[in-house]
Amino acid sequence: MPDGFSDFEFTPAIEGATSALWDKMKSHVTPLEWRVHAPLIAAINELKRAKNAVILAHNYMTPEIFHGVGDYVGDSLGLAREAAKSDAAIIVQAGVHFMAETSKVLCPDKTVLIPDREAGCSLAASITAKDVRLIKQRYPGLPVVTYVNTTADVKAETDICCTSANAVQVVEAVAREWGVDRVILLPDEFLARNVARQTDIGIIAWAGRCEVHERFTAADILELRAAYPQAQILAHPECPAEVLEVSDFAGSTAAMSEFVMQKKPKQVVLITECSMADNVACDAPDTEFVRPCNLCPHMKRITLQNIYDALVRDQFEVTVDPAVAVRARAAVQRMIDLPPPAVPARYDLIKARRHVDVELI
Ligand code: 13P
Ligand code: SF4
Repeated sequence: MPDGFSDFEFTPAIEGATSALWDKMKSHVTPLEWRVHAPLIAAINELKRAKNAVILAHNYMTPEIFHGVGDYVGDSLGLAREAAKSDAAIIVQAGVHFMAETSKVLCPDKTVLIPDREAGCSLAASITAKDVRLIKQRYPGLPVVTYVNTTADVKAETDICCTSANAVQVVEAVAREWGVDRVILLPDEFLARNVARQTDIGIIAWAGRCEVHERFTAADILELRAAYPQAQILAHPECPAEVLEVSDFAGSTAAMSEFVMQKKPKQVVLITECSMADNVACDAPDTEFVRPCNLCPHMKRITLQNIYDALVRDQFEVTVDPAVAVRARAAVQRMIDLPPPAVPARYDLIKARRHVDVELI
């Protein structure tokens, strides 16, 4: 199959084969865009079958990737669980580099591909394994919890991982197990501050930030409330605590999606990355989405074209030093082995404990 959009024709056969997807996406993709996307979607789905490959697509992928070629879609926790279960020979990570590393750590015998090697993350870049070793020297006897948005080297230095979906549960479980009343939670300062407001466990935090979520302010939310008084406002826990305090609900990307699908609000605002609302909106035609979003430049590096290229050329393979992978796997597996969180993080819990602060390293 040749490279390049111009080589893929929008034939009647392709139109027919992709018509169900078009029906789902037509409110968010223009007919002109569909003529470009549909042939690539058909080619990628054929390549997946031929090569026994699966695509793990994060909620921040654009709709043509998320709905068009994603075999497993969801938040960081859901994708890690799917990677662990998959029996495909090849995993293509439609997400960022730390997610692909997590898949490789969980599936050392599979080929894990990332369509663009530069798809990074400001949180993962904020801390190194050496930083974690120094922190452990400074706080001996305290467990280290790291957000999955970290490199495999960093995960290898830590006791257990967490995601935004289970951070409170992980912090409380590890504190119980170690018999301590303080836990080190790295590297997202805002996630740590939001967790601290929902637990009695003391939190020691690092000053990493998500460059997408740190840009939202409480003033933005209050302006939205004034303009859209009926709207439910859902915010991601990587946002500053002041943002969550004036929102209606806080949760991971999967929790936000579940909220919309289950509660079916008339109008909703998702305080997170832009593609999230597009993807949920394709499945929730009766909800109106107000869209004050911020783009993640790293997530947006992944395109249908480079997913296709990844499958054709087996590029770019993600490797993790086996000695590092064994230790990182233990930290991720401890998280996966915990039962799924019963109730996602909720605004009323956060507000009730708004006085609780973290110790910033
Ligand atoms: P979740 O999908 O786990 O909520 O994380 C959001 C995120 O920023 C991933 O990069
Ligand atoms: Fe990293 Fe934030 Fe982008 Fe997620 S949205 S990949 S946390 S920079």
